[in-house]
Amino acid sequence: MKDEQEMVLTDPSSPSSPEDVSRRKFLQTGVFGACAVYIGAIGYPVFRYLNSPVEASQLASAVKEVTLDKANELAVGTALMFKFGTSPALLIHHADGSWVAMSAVCTHMGCTVKFDEGAKKITCACHGGVFDAATGENISGPPPRPLERYDVKVNDANVVVTKIS
Ligand code: FES
Repeated sequence: MKDEQEMVLTDPSSPSSPEDVSRRKFLQTGVFGACAVYIGAIGYPVFRYLNSPVEASQLASAVKEVTLDKANELAVGTALMFKFGTSPALLIHHADGSWVAMSAVCTHMGCTVKFDEGAKKITCACHGGVFDAATGENISGPPPRPLERYDVKVNDANVVVTKIS
C-alpha cells in the first residue's frame, strides 16, 4: 500500500507531478506572453493612427486666422514656417510674386513638410512625399490628400492667413 502511494506521488505522468505543474506554468506564461505581444502588435498601430498629429490638428485647432507681423517682407522665392494654432504651416512667396499659405502637416502620417527652394516643391522627409508648392496637391509618394490651403492677404505691415471654411 505504501509503495502504491509513493508511485502515485512520484509518477511523472500524474497530472499533479512537479514536472507537469512546471511545464503547465511555462506553457501558460508562454501563451500569455505571445498573446500580449500579438495584442500590442495590433493595438499600437491603431493607437498611433487615432492619436496621430493629422487627427489632432484637425480636431484641436479652433484658430481661424493668424497675423504674421512683417511677413510681407518675406523675400521672393522663400518660405516662412509659422504656427497656425497648434499646427505648423507654411507661407510661400513665389518667384512670380504670388503668395500661398498651407498646412505643413503631411497628409500621410503627420510629419512636418518643408519648402524646397531649389526644386520649388514641398517635400516630406519621412517617406518621400512631394506636394506642389503652388497648390498643395500631392504629386508623388504616399500622401493621400493635398495639404490644407489657407487664404492669404498681404498688407503693408503684415500678412493675414485665414482658414478656408
Ligand atoms: S509622413 Fe509625409 S510622406 Fe509619410
